[in-house]
Amino acid sequence: MLIILLGPPGAGKGTQADRIVKNHGLVYISTGDILRKAVKEESSLGRKAQEFMDQGQLVPDNLVVEIVRERLKEPDCLNGALLDGFPRTVEQAVFLENVLPEIEAAIDQVLLIEVEENELVERLTGRRVCCDCGANYHVKYKSPKVRNVCDQCGGDLYQRDDDTLTTVKERLEVYKKQTEPLIEFYQERDLLYTVDGNKEIDEVNEQINNVLKEL
Ligand code: AP5
Ligand code: MG
Ligand code: ZN
Repeated sequence: MLIILLGPPGAGKGTQADRIVKNHGLVYISTGDILRKAVKEESSLGRKAQEFMDQGQLVPDNLVVEIVRERLKEPDCLNGALLDGFPRTVEQAVFLENVLPEIEAAIDQVLLIEVEENELVERLTGRRVCCDCGANYHVKYKSPKVRNVCDQCGGDLYQRDDDTLTTVKERLEVYKKQTEPLIEFYQERDLLYTVDGNKEIDEVNEQINNVLKEL
């Protein structure tokens, strides 16, 4: 099974992905997480990606596509994978289509999580992330039991470098220009299902589960 999560920054892709992979036994592939890890490790990919990420721009396609191809080829993906944050441009989507025969897979569903813009800004500027396990929190909507400490692993919570107001606004613009065309791309292929992401986390998850159980 291959599921794609599409949606603007802050829509709740990571939050929902965490639940989807637990419920459906899929491998989680987030290009954002892979890139942030590379930046932290100061690898050659990380050094190239950092300036784009800090400015809220997309990392060039050629740096991202091969990573995804290699990851999808690993044996644990045979039972299915969930892609979060990839593809993000039409070029990446075309690349993915060309890779699918190689791994004998097909896209089962593209889930578009839609959320109003004001809400996105609020969610991103209030987000906190665990530095050890990557779990997502929010100062208002999903606060941890102990301030700045992860409920799941006890790690410290931090604010992502790209979650400042200026960078958030840039990321939303980039989404409109470069990623929104994918909505039509997947509509044409009859793969798109739109989820109302303005609802509470559990309600959004219920909508997603209803779609996935039909597959
Ligand atoms: P990436 O890490 O993919 O970030 P993004 O797409 O901007 O999305 P976010 O992770 O910010 O939001 P999310 O939808 O996961 O929301 P979350 O669940 O955390 O990419 C980062 C950067 O990497 C890009 O800018 C780019 O530079 C680069 N990059 C990555 N992939 C690339 C690619 N393929 N090509 C090129 N460049 C690439 O939720 C947000 C907050 O809201 C949390 O605090 C959460 O607790 C809260 N929340 C979630 N759901 C709800 C709800 N229903 N109600 C209330 N609060 C909620
Ligand atoms: Mg995310
Ligand atoms: Zn943690």
